[in-house]
Amino acid sequence: MQDEQKKKLKLKVSAIKEGTVIDHIPAKNLFKVISILGLDSINNQITFGTNLESGKLGYKAIVKVSNKFFEDDEINKIALIAPHAKLNIIRDYEVVEKKVVEIPDSIQGIVKCFNPKCITNNERITTSFKVVEKEPISLKCRYCEKLTNSNQISMY
Ligand code: CTP
Ligand code: ZN
Repeated sequence: MQDEQKKKLKLKVSAIKEGTVIDHIPAKNLFKVISILGLDSINNQITFGTNLESGKLGYKAIVKVSNKFFEDDEINKIALIAPHAKLNIIRDYEVVEKKVVEIPDSIQGIVKCFNPKCITNNERITTSFKVVEKEPISLKCRYCEKLTNSNQISMY
């Protein structure tokens, strides 16, 4: 197949002129990504596709945010729910930079504390963890100091 033809087949969501393309989001977490990044409350043009076929992930989602360039610590908030996400920075229709997400050193919200007695599970308090280990992940609650490990993680 011609390269041009291949490109068109891949372009299920229109190209953007300026902004950020977040690719390889697990389809099931698309709306969590949108909410964590606050994309539901900004005025930029946003296009997305979901349940697109993807070799690695089964089904992936992709989000394109025009005229938005995220800070690293902003984008790293999605690392737990989209660990293989790839960012493409677009300037004048060209991909000028590619970035991957990294697990941050601390996490606010997103994850529940594993300790049922923790105050965050009994009152309306946002969870807050120090990441004590990244692989496999281990989170230390700032409120009850208990650890939540990778096999115990559940998200809001
Ligand atoms: N893209 C876009 N608008 C542009 C340029 C690129 O929306 N003006 C999107 C493409 O559709 C693609 C992503 O940005 O989803 C990355 O583009 P590119 O690097 O050209 O694609 P690939 O080579 O497929 O990148 P990778 O294999 O790293 O996903
Ligand atoms: Zn706790």
